[in-house]
Amino acid sequence: MSADEAFVTLATTDSYCMGATVVARSLRRHGTTRHIVVMITPNISEQSRLALKNEFDDVIVVDVMDSEDSLHLSLLGRPELGITFTKIHCWTLTQYSKCVFLDADTLVLCNVDELFERDELSAAPDPGWPDCFNSGVFVFRPSLHTHTRLLDHARRHGSFDGGDQGLLNSFFSGWSVEDISKHLPFIYNLSVSSVYSYLPAFQQFGHGAKIIHFLGGDKPWKSQGNSSGSHTMEQFVSLWWKEYLIHTTPSAPAAQPKQEQKKPQQIPEREAKMKSTENLDSTNSLLAHFSPPSESLYSQPEPTLCSHTDGRQLEEEPRSLEEESRSYEETEVVDPPLGAEGLEGSDATADAATDPRPADAEPEQLEHRRMWEMGQVDYLGRDSFQNIQRMLDRFLD
Ligand code: UDP
Ligand code: GLC
Ligand code: MN
Repeated sequence: MSADEAFVTLATTDSYCMGATVVARSLRRHGTTRHIVVMITPNISEQSRLALKNEFDDVIVVDVMDSEDSLHLSLLGRPELGITFTKIHCWTLTQYSKCVFLDADTLVLCNVDELFERDELSAAPDPGWPDCFNSGVFVFRPSLHTHTRLLDHARRHGSFDGGDQGLLNSFFSGWSVEDISKHLPFIYNLSVSSVYSYLPAFQQFGHGAKIIHFLGGDKPWKSQGNSSGSHTMEQFVSLWWKEYLIHTTPSAPAAQPKQEQKKPQQIPEREAKMKSTENLDSTNSLLAHFSPPSESLYSQPEPTLCSHTDGRQLEEEPRSLEEESRSYEETEVVDPPLGAEGLEGSDATADAATDPRPADAEPEQLEHRRMWEMGQVDYLGRDSFQNIQRMLDRFLD
């Protein structure tokens, strides 16, 4: 494991701690070999800190920094984002030589360690103004010198959006034209809003998504994934909840060579009510639960979506289907949502979503599981999103 490189996120409130938890779990699920670090502010409760310590390699307390620029923030429509100036403290993490910052509202869908091959400042275009980069995902080099220069820049010029993104874009102002290798493909920061703003592109390329960004005021932890919003949005929110509710046990030793196994998170209120009986997921990809907006456009469901590469990170060997499914078989749900009485027997989805022990399983279930693990997911039938959704709804109630 590269102990001098890290993924970094930020949480200044208990709600964003939920998001940070998902960032850590989704990175770990996909076998990152890098440290996973969260910066928190002094107001974060002791309970949340303890929970985060179980998820992260390092929990670092930083000072709150707020632009207090209500004028620009009101233009952005997000008065609460002045506090994102706190993100700038990530440059003080000089115990690491290189880091990847991930907003706490991101969800990692596959191993993205290849991002460490990029240099500062690499980021993906912002969907609202593509000549700016979005600061929800970026590669940087911690440096006290850069940190001081950033603070100085903020003091002198402020931020055109009142948050870190405006500041960073004016500081790294050459990003849009200078070096194309610093432009991350959009699949590393796929904002859910792009699903609506350019649906044909989403249908064409969305299956290659590596990191989903719940950019905007609606955060997954504020909803249950079963109310308003588009079908696709609901699916992403459900994926987020799934990652929040399951606990992964690092499995493939190759994927996490020296990393100490993290203890399961303390059980917060919502899960405390749930019984611990079965595995939720034995799929070979979390995205296997993702059914595209219009199935007819996807004649070939592609569950091992994240083996997709963009041509710049070819050194990464995509994990074989066998390795991938082994890793998911060892996915452990410490406090899974389904009670023993749950959906067993009657509900077809329960077969897919639980981990039947071969001795107990019916031949049909075994065959279903075999197909599932081979990536032959019955998107339109028993493994349809509606069935998964029903199961999620039951445990979220
Ligand atoms: N953040 C935080 N507390 C807040 C607001 C933001 O910790 O009250 C952090 C968190 O990591 C979050 C990031 O700053 O993901 C940027 O904010 P957000 O993701 O809400 O902005 P968006 O991407 O929606 O523009
Ligand atoms: C953006 C980014 C977010 C940033 C915010 C404020 O929309 O997604 O990371 O904190 O703007 O600048
Ligand atoms: Mn964000």
